[in-house]
Amino acid sequence: MTWSNLRHILGVMTLALGVAYGAAAGLMGSPILDAPAHAQTGGKVPGNWSGNVSDAELWRAIRKGVKGKSDMQDPMAAVLVQSDGDSWRAFKNGPLSQFGGWLMLVMVVALVAFRLIRGQVKIEAGPSGQTIERFNALERATHWLTASSFVVLALSGLNVMYGRYVLLPILGPEAFAGLTYYGKLAHNYLGFAFMVGIVLMFVLWVRENILDGTDLNWIAHGGGLFTKGKHPACKKFNFGQKCIFWMVVLGGLTVSVSGLALLFPYEITPWAKTFSVLNIFGLGLPTDLTALQETQVSVLWHSVVAVVMIAVIIAHIYIGTPVGMEGAIGAVGSGQVDINWAKEHHSLWVAEVEGGGGGEQPAE
Ligand code: HEM
Repeated sequence: MTWSNLRHILGVMTLALGVAYGAAAGLMGSPILDAPAHAQTGGKVPGNWSGNVSDAELWRAIRKGVKGKSDMQDPMAAVLVQSDGDSWRAFKNGPLSQFGGWLMLVMVVALVAFRLIRGQVKIEAGPSGQTIERFNALERATHWLTASSFVVLALSGLNVMYGRYVLLPILGPEAFAGLTYYGKLAHNYLGFAFMVGIVLMFVLWVRENILDGTDLNWIAHGGGLFTKGKHPACKKFNFGQKCIFWMVVLGGLTVSVSGLALLFPYEITPWAKTFSVLNIFGLGLPTDLTALQETQVSVLWHSVVAVVMIAVIIAHIYIGTPVGMEGAIGAVGSGQVDINWAKEHHSLWVAEVEGGGGGEQPAE
């Protein structure tokens, strides 16, 4: 055997011994090969080095939302994982989105069915050519301030909720990202225009939207919507319009407050206080909410009320345009409506404006 062959064999043997020792040390969990083998018990990884404690228990606790200690100002900083967020997200992206989608779809289908069965609600006596002022310039400006901001808020909000399913596949990622970015900006700022709109609407129209006896009559006659030729006597606003008004004002108020809470999270936290007031009715709602839970409730409330409002406003837009009703749009356009339209739909109001009596209008 030559010296070079011997060197080669020794090299291979040294390498083999090294690998064998590494494997044995790994298996024993110790560099000292005669150390007793450790079973993995009590959450300890064998070997007894510092840092080899199994983190399973720790992470399980974190996952359950156990709070640690932190010197940071933010009270949530000591909570690493808020696991309620999982169920919150599942509810938001599941039942809530589905409910919103169905609600709007059902509304559209109902309106199409109504249009097919009832047709356009006409001025039964036909237009007279003579008009009466329904809303002054300030009322019309208020209506359109509220309406235009609401439409942009609704579309940009729906995009946040459904855009990734509906628009992303059509527009592609770049166009969709741009649209969503500017939509979100518009949503953030136009919220304030909407708030001004609902405050003005409340001040201008609250007096005429207080419920009274004429509303019972309107309800009893189904608003005259399903029977041609008969219109229940109404003042400036009928019961259906009063419902729209209160929904816009009260729904708009809570959507605004929850929207502000989302714009200024951790600063505006309205829910614990609201829940403690509601608990007067024995609801047993939680009143020790963290700032993060406040934000989560705001998202849910904001979305639920917004989709309900959107569904109702779809019906309002339908009946306000000539698609649904002849002669109504002038009220918020020029401010003038045909006197025959006014007598059929708001006879008591016409009588009040003209200083005469009013009553049920049998239309020819
Ligand atoms: C964008 C399309 C819209 C159209 C075509 C429309 C049309 C109309 C019309 C014609 C009236 C007057 C009804 C009458 O004289 O008796 C009216 C009133 C009203 N609108 Fe709109 N509107 C629209 C959007 C909105 C929006 C988005 C809101 C609120 C979020 C809104 C809130 C109201 C309220 C509270 C009234 C008074 C109560 C009532 O008539 O229902 N409108 N609208």
